[in-house]
Amino acid sequence: MSKQDKVFIFDTTLRDGEQSPGATMSHDEKLEIAGLLDEMGVDIIEAGFPIASEGDFAAVKAISEQAATSVICGLARANFKDIDRCWEAVKHAKRPRIHTFIGTSPLHRAIPNLNMDEMAEKIHETVSHARNLCDNVQWSPMDATRTEEDYLCRVVEIAIRAGATTINIPDTVGYTAPRESAALIQMLLDRVPGADEIIFATHCHNDLGMATANSLAAVEAGARQIECTINGLGERAGNTALEEVVMALKVRNDIMPFQTGIDSTKLMNISRRVASVSGFAVQFNKAIVGKNAFAHESGIHQDGMLKNAETFEIMRPEDVGLSETNLVMGKHSGRAALRSKLSELGFELGDNQLKDVFVRFKELADQKKEVYDDDLIALMQTGDADADTIKLTALKVSCGMGLEKTADMTLEIDGQASSVTASGDGPVDAAFNAVKSLFAHSARLQVYQVAAVTEGTDAQATVTVRLEEDGKIATGQSADVDTVVASVKAYVDALNRLVMRRERSGGDVAEVSYKDVS
Ligand code: KIV
Ligand code: ZN
Repeated sequence: MSKQDKVFIFDTTLRDGEQSPGATMSHDEKLEIAGLLDEMGVDIIEAGFPIASEGDFAAVKAISEQAATSVICGLARANFKDIDRCWEAVKHAKRPRIHTFIGTSPLHRAIPNLNMDEMAEKIHETVSHARNLCDNVQWSPMDATRTEEDYLCRVVEIAIRAGATTINIPDTVGYTAPRESAALIQMLLDRVPGADEIIFATHCHNDLGMATANSLAAVEAGARQIECTINGLGERAGNTALEEVVMALKVRNDIMPFQTGIDSTKLMNISRRVASVSGFAVQFNKAIVGKNAFAHESGIHQDGMLKNAETFEIMRPEDVGLSETNLVMGKHSGRAALRSKLSELGFELGDNQLKDVFVRFKELADQKKEVYDDDLIALMQTGDADADTIKLTALKVSCGMGLEKTADMTLEIDGQASSVTASGDGPVDAAFNAVKSLFAHSARLQVYQVAAVTEGTDAQATVTVRLEEDGKIATGQSADVDTVVASVKAYVDALNRLVMRRERSGGDVAEVSYKDVS
């Protein structure tokens, strides 16, 4: 095989992904995801926005200390305070990077009220400052795709002269299209002095559903870093999905001869973990990692698949880490069988964790004759975390035609058990009212969604609940054969995430978004 150009994969699940409303992850969850990204071969992990909050700072620092091979990057706005704070967090990494940015389009220049010259000066000062701290500096002109070309060339040149080693070209609002995305990179390579000495990155949002296509077009024009997130997690319609660009480059290597360092067999597992910890379920028909991505239901497809899998498959399920077997487990299955099945599904458990999961597996197997892969995945994605403030310990609902709908509930809040009986329009409404009376809060229910994990009336229900409180959003998920229990657990999960966000913004540094211009 001829030597192919490498395309660096820059994952921003923990920064752009996590800053999307409702996708809050705990400190430990961030560390776990960073570990999986590192193991999978991600070149650069954007671990967070250190000035945003004490929690963000602590997570970026801990990820920096833990990382084995990935470069660890933190985000900073164009001011010394942000950049210094970012450096304090990433300097612990073997390979640190500072990523600083400023909005350069006319709309963004108007916010800090800087004219073109003043902004150019600010870019020079801040990139030079970052470069004095760290020899790996990335600079982004936010909203680059709506910035005047001449001005974009001017500021990119300034950033390169000031020492930026990577120049990222964000399509912040998902406005560009493939041909334009390619032309922009080509234009910068042609016009900017020094452009051949740095790496150009592409950072696309998916508002028009073109993020993957736009990223690949930029690579064909000369970009050598793709910024992306697992499952395309991110604000609004999300960011470029890592699994899509990686598999597109692999499957269509004949027409896009570029290499990434990603071990694609780890994609499915990390996708499940991100869905679980962010509370953002993956849509069934999502490319590469959706539940239906490799399912063939029509008779014609199934027949073709049995004769030759290539008839309808352009990649094998194993290539993305999906095990072919769907071995059914039951109540007689032992601990060793469970461990091996979970490991096949990508979950490696320590002895203590296995003990806890085995108890929950037995409970499930008692309620459900056959436990499928999807049931086990749902089981792994739920369960109380030790750090949870609120835990559901007992629930009994009464409902039926012509009957009052009531819920008797016990919650453990900060280790203290309290019980209540509440009523409502239906069993779920009664149960949610019980939660509200035991744990007073002003959060509003924005989304309540129920889906069956497998077929059959004994199937588990996965429930997603999205809550909003003072502009903060949290999404909770749970699964259980009892839909009301799953609903309450999902509600409690969302509440725990809101509590975590409240605590996170309670530090010395107020919680800020990367969109706040200072
Ligand atoms: O979309 C965007 O412009 C960003 C920048 C902070 C790089 O995420
Ligand atoms: Zn972005």
